[in-house]
Parts: sequence; structure tokens; C-alpha cells
Amino acid sequence: MAPVPSLSATVHQRLAEALAAALPEAGAADPLLRRSDRADFQANGMLALAKKLGGNPRDLAGQVVDRIPTADDADPDPVVRAIEVSGPGFLNITVADSAITSTLALRAADDRLGVPYAERPGTTVIDYSQPNVAKEMHVGHLRSTVIGDAIVQILEHRGETVVRRHHIGDWGTQFGMLIQYLIEHPHELDHASDAADATAEGEAAMSRLNRLYKASRALFDSDEEFKDRARRRVVDLQAGDEETLALWHKIVDESKIYFRGVYTKLDVEIRDEDVVGESAYNDDLHAVCRELESSGVAVRSEGALCVFFDDVKGPDGKPVPLIVQKSNGGFGYAATDLAAIRDRVGSLKADTLLYVVDARQALHFKMVFETARRAGWLPEGAARQLPFGTVLGKDGKPFKTREGETVRLVDLLDEAVDRAATVVAEKAPDLTAEEVSERAAQVGIGAVKYADLSTSLTRDYIFDLDRMVSLNGDTSVYLQYAYARIQSILRKAGTAVPKARPELPLSPAERALGLHLDEFADTLAAVAETYEPHKLAAYLYQLASAFTTFYDQCPVLKKDNSPELVENRLFFCDLTARTLRQGMALLGIRTPERL
Ligand code: ARG
Repeated sequence: MAPVPSLSATVHQRLAEALAAALPEAGAADPLLRRSDRADFQANGMLALAKKLGGNPRDLAGQVVDRIPTADDADPDPVVRAIEVSGPGFLNITVADSAITSTLALRAADDRLGVPYAERPGTTVIDYSQPNVAKEMHVGHLRSTVIGDAIVQILEHRGETVVRRHHIGDWGTQFGMLIQYLIEHPHELDHASDAADATAEGEAAMSRLNRLYKASRALFDSDEEFKDRARRRVVDLQAGDEETLALWHKIVDESKIYFRGVYTKLDVEIRDEDVVGESAYNDDLHAVCRELESSGVAVRSEGALCVFFDDVKGPDGKPVPLIVQKSNGGFGYAATDLAAIRDRVGSLKADTLLYVVDARQALHFKMVFETARRAGWLPEGAARQLPFGTVLGKDGKPFKTREGETVRLVDLLDEAVDRAATVVAEKAPDLTAEEVSERAAQVGIGAVKYADLSTSLTRDYIFDLDRMVSLNGDTSVYLQYAYARIQSILRKAGTAVPKARPELPLSPAERALGLHLDEFADTLAAVAETYEPHKLAAYLYQLASAFTTFYDQCPVLKKDNSPELVENRLFFCDLTARTLRQGMALLGIRTPERL
């Protein structure tokens, strides 16, 4: 199906044409149209234009008005019902009711709700949800996962080719100790496979890893000889010794079982082929260093291979370099990130690289991107970090447990689901325990994701479950209830697919809902352009609010409504539900049919 131009795009075009006809010397001037409370739309571009051309803005606006035939004219414009000059030279535009309903009918007839694909889709590689092997996922991994997943969905929906990369921390000296311990205690990770589901299996894997970590750490700290053997084991690992690598694999695999459990709970799809950890770039690290050194991008300084920047200095005023290779020959995070860029642009042919990583790593990425640019691996502006803020506890400090430890991601999710179960059971006391737990998962996980995604990325936010699962306010539960309520109306009505009735006049609440529904496509385009999921969340919240007002003011299944009116209102209900469901799905949030 063809994309459906929004009413705002149509009005914009009409104004631009009228403006060009009235003032050929204006060129392609932008009428600067936006939604308005006064009328449906307001254009204030005449002010700047009159200033530029030295005319009177009200006169100029009047000339535009004269060129648009409206309801009172012989051959009225089908979209613009009224247009008038107001204030210093604004244009207030009201669109025809029939235009609103007809446009929505076109959206409803399309599976994509009239949302176009990007004109020139490219390839984006997105680096997100990068947990570390043999470690628990904590609250810090929540945002990267949830934001990254939403951006993947939003870009793919636009037709962009998206390559997902989970740059997991699967390499480093800590493995020497773990592997050495496993060699000396070969049954440490053995277990009976009796877990009930992915989540339970994941938890069991993590407790085995924790046990291994604690036991090997204790030995490492108390036994000098073990410490030596562990250190030598790191060398074996780096040299690619087979037995060592096999055990390393075993630990990585065990962690992947754990990750899978967490992702299942979080209702996020992570595919094995997209998990390409730091170790995947091991073979490239020497070449990266060689190329950087021979091109002069990096220089040796006190034995380390460093890249310097004019504008990056420490508190003492001395330049702080990006260290690509340490003086002992070891590679750090920077080398791996550089090798990954080379691969993502060179082999995967990415046009855009996104990094959904904590804002505290902004300097690291700035230096890495600039280094890659100097080396000729990365076109200017092609890479972008989407830095995000911190999740805070109720005290406004970074979220910690009462004991001052980092909060495990699963604990946080479990608590959200528990709270949601209370809300669900209170609202619908007749549900079976099984129904409550299924819905509680959708409501609880949705609440966590929505609270995160409705905050602009760079802001910190307070993790407050009471607020997140509240039925009132800007929460996913509120949106889910709006959706479920519509489904219940549609079930009651029994109409298969309600049809639009463009011949019917619309009441103010219907107009407001209709105009907002029509903005879905433009909103998605803007969200994909700027990578700001919170704008989609805000759109959906406004949609649910507009629906609530509509529902209060425009009874749908009332006896004295004409059958046409019932059908048209059902049509508005249905399109609202479909838009909510699609929008929520792009944020990774479920919309249960009943709540
Ligand atoms: N594994 C790291 C952590 O848990 C984040 C990795 C970020 N991504 C990257 N390409 N460096 O903090």
C-alpha cells in the first residue's frame, strides 16, 4: 500500500503553493506549519518572510488566504475548510471533518497504518546490551538493552537494514583465574539439567558461575602458587592453547544461558548470531596497532601505543591519550572498539554506527571515533554514541541495594512483575492465578521499559515502582488499559471491521483524536531521525489521553446513536487500538487484549 500523506503534510503543501504563487520572489519559503490549539494548524512563516522581503506580514498572509478556496467558495479545497489571518500575520487553518475521517480511512486500510518506508534506507550497526561474561547483569544493563531494542524495532520498521551487535565482555585477564580453577576442579560447572524454563535455567547457570568465581577468587587471594598458575593461564589463553580455549568456551556458553534467561524475562529478543563479543576481534588487534602506528595516528609513549588529542586534557593540563596498547603489550577496550569499527564499516558496510552506552563513556567514544576517523576507517559523522543517563534510587543516588551493592537486573524485574500482579489482581478479581501471572509479566515488564523509554536518553531517572505501575499518569499500564478497553468495546459491538463514515460531522473530541492519530507516521519519522524513543512514548501517551476524552464525550454504543455514528466511532476506536499496539510494539511493550 502507498504511504498516506498526513493532513499536516497536505496543508503544508497547499500553503507552500499558495505562497509561491503570491510571491514568486520568495522562492521555496517554508510556511512553518504546526499543530495549534486555536485552530487545527497554525503557520507563522509569513512573519519571517515579510521581514526578509520588507512587506507587511498581514498583507502577505492575506494574499495566501486569497489563493486557497475554502468552504464558502465555488470549488472548495477538500482539505482546508477555513483559513484566516490572525494576530501579526499568522495563518489559522481548520481542516474539513471529512478530510480527517478519509485520511484515517486510508491509514486503516493499510497494514502499516500508512507509515512510509525511509526514502533511502541504509545499513545501521547498533552496539547495545553488552553484558559481561561470568558476571551478573545489573541495573546498568537495563537501559542499554531496552533503548537499543526499541531503536532496532523503530529503524527496522522504516526499512533500514539493522545489524545488531552485542559487544559482550568475554575477554580479559580475569579468565585466567576461572579457567585455572576449572582445570584443577574439573566438575565445578557440572550440573543436572532439570530447570523448568529458560529463566530458571539461566538463574542456575549464574549461580554455578558465581560459585566458580567465589571459589577461584578465594584461592587466588590466598594461594600465591595458584595466583602464578592463573597468570600463566592468561598467557595460554592469549596464545590460543586448545584446552584453555575449550574451558573459556565453557564459561562463555554458561553465561549465554544466563543472558538468555534474563532476556526472556525482559521479553527482548537476542539472537545468537548477533552476540559478537570483544574476543571476536582478537585476531585484528595487532593489525589495528600496526596501521595506527605506521600512519602516525598513534605514537609510542612510555612504551604504550597512544593517540593524543588537542582538546582532551587531564586536570593537571597534561594531554590524556587514548591507550590502544599498554606498555606490557596488552590490549584494552579501545583496541577492540577500533577493530570493531574497522569491521563494521569495512566488512559489514555500515553507513551508520550507533553505540547505546552509558553517558559516562562519552569521552572514550569521542576519542575512539576521532582515532578511527584519522585512520580512515570511519567517515566523518558516521558513528554516534547514544549516551544514556543513570538509573537512580529513591534517594536520588545511583541505584544500590540496601547493603550498598549493585542491583541485580533480575531482582528488579521480579519486583516489578510482583507489583504488577497486585495491580492486575485488584482490577480483575475474577482472573485465574495463571491469567494473573501472564498479565502481570506483560504489565510489569512493560512498566519498566516504558518508564525508561519515556525519559529522554540523557536524563537520569528514579526507579520508582509505585509510579511505574500506577494506572494514572504517564505509564505503560495506562496505555495498556486504553488498549484493552477498546478491545472490550469492539468485542461488545461485535462488528468485524468498522468502516469510516467521512460524511458525518465530527465533534471536538473526535477531531482531536483523529488529528492525533494522523500524526503517527510523522512522529515515527522524527523518532527514527533523532533516535529519541521518548518522543514515541509521549505521542502514545497523548493518544491514550485523547482517546480517554473521546470516550468520555462521545458515547460509542449508545442506543440513540444512528448505526452510522456507532460505526464511525467504532472505526476511531479500532484505529486508536491498532496505533497503540503498533507504537507499543516498537517500544518492545505488549498490549494484552484484556486487563
Ligand atoms: N561491556 C561493557 C559494560 O558492561 C559495555 C560495552 C560497551 N560497548 C562497546 N562497544 N564498548 O560496561
